[in-house]
Amino acid sequence: MKIENVAIVGAGTMGHALALVHALGGCSVRITDLSSETLTAAPGLIDAACQNLVDAGEIIQDTADTAIKRIQFIADLVEAITNADLIVEAIVEKEDIKRTLFAEIDAIAPADVIIASNTSYLDIFPLVPASRQKNTLIAHWYTPPYIIDLVDIAAGPKTSPDVISTIHDLYKGFGKEPLLFGRLIPGYIANRLQAALNLECLRMIDEGWVSPSDIDHSVRHGLASRLAILGHMKKMDYTDLRMSRNGIASRMYQPPEITGGSETLTRLIEEGRTGVRAGAGFYDYGDASPEDLFKARDTKLLKLKQAIKIIEKDD
Ligand SMILES: NC(=O)c1ccc[n+]([C@@H]2O[C@H](COP(=O)([O-])OP(=O)(O)OC[C@H]3O[C@@H](n4cnc5c(N)ncnc54)[C@H](O)[C@@H]3O)[C@@H](O)[C@H]2O)c1
Repeated sequence: MKIENVAIVGAGTMGHALALVHALGGCSVRITDLSSETLTAAPGLIDAACQNLVDAGEIIQDTADTAIKRIQFIADLVEAITNADLIVEAIVEKEDIKRTLFAEIDAIAPADVIIASNTSYLDIFPLVPASRQKNTLIAHWYTPPYIIDLVDIAAGPKTSPDVISTIHDLYKGFGKEPLLFGRLIPGYIANRLQAALNLECLRMIDEGWVSPSDIDHSVRHGLASRLAILGHMKKMDYTDLRMSRNGIASRMYQPPEITGGSETLTRLIEEGRTGVRAGAGFYDYGDASPEDLFKARDTKLLKLKQAIKIIEKDD
C-alpha cells in the first residue's frame, strides 16, 4: 500500500503539526476542521513550526518551502478526504464526536483508505463501523510531533497486519520512532508514565510540601538527563537492581491514590491559568506570546535532540 495523499481531520494543537509532519515526509496533505477560526489559524502555526526547524538546522529552506506547498486547507470534510490513502483523525477527545466522524468517513471515504486515530486515552475501535475495522489503527503522537519522534501504533482486534506494517514503515521512513503495540494498552507507555508522574507531582503540590519550581528543579537537574540518555529500565540497571528492590521493600511513602482530582489543578483552571496559551499556568509567562514561548521551547528541544544524536553516534 502506497501512502501519497493524506487527510488530516482536526487542525488544533496536534492536527496542524501532523499536517507538517506528513508534508515533510513527502505526502500531499489536505487538512480540515469544523472550526473556520482554527483552520484559518493553521497556516501561520505550520509556517512558524517549519521555520523553527529551518532555524535550528534540522531542514533546509528548500525542504520547508516544498513541504508547505504540499498542504491544502479545506473547509469541507468530503473534499478533504475523497482522494485520501490515509485519514489521520485528530479531533477532540470525545467518544460521541469521534463516533459521528467515523460514520461520516465511512459514508464518503474510499473503501480501502487507512484510518489512523491520534487518540490519547480512548478505545476508538468500538466507535468505528465494522467494514472499516481492518483498515483502522491508532497512531498516537507526542507534541510537538515535528520534533518528538515517538509514535505509538496500536492495532485494534481486527486491524490487518498489512495496514500496521504500512503505517509503521511510512513513519519509519519519515525518520520517526514508531513503537508497535500488539493490542491497545490504554495510555500506551509514555502517557501511563506521565499520568503516574502527574499524580505524584500534583499530590506533593496539593499537600503543600513542595512548589512547582521545586519539582521542575528535581526533574531537570536529576531525572531528565539520565532518562534522555538511558531510558528508564537501563537506568535501573545502572543504579543496581538491588537498589530498586530495597526501595520497594522499605518505602517511606505510599504512591498517591487515584481520587479523581487535584485541588491545585481545579483552582488554576478556574482562575483561567490553563497553561502557556493562557499566559499562565503553574508559572506566569508575562507578556510573552504563545508563539514566542513555543519557538523558545522548539529551539531548545531541537538542540537537545541534535546533541543526543551526536552522543549516540558512538554507541
Ligand atoms: N494535545 C496533545 O498534546 C495531544 C497529544 C497526543 C494526542 N492528542 C490527541 O489528539 C486529538 C486532538 O487533540 P488536540 O490537542 O489537537 O485538540 P484541539 O482541541 O486542539 O483540536 C481538536 C480540533 O478538532 C476540531 N473538531 C472537532 N470535531 C471535529 C469534526 N467532526 N471534524 C473536524 N474537526 C473537528 C475542533 O474544532 C478542534 O480544532 C485528541 O484525540 C487528543 O487526545 C493530543
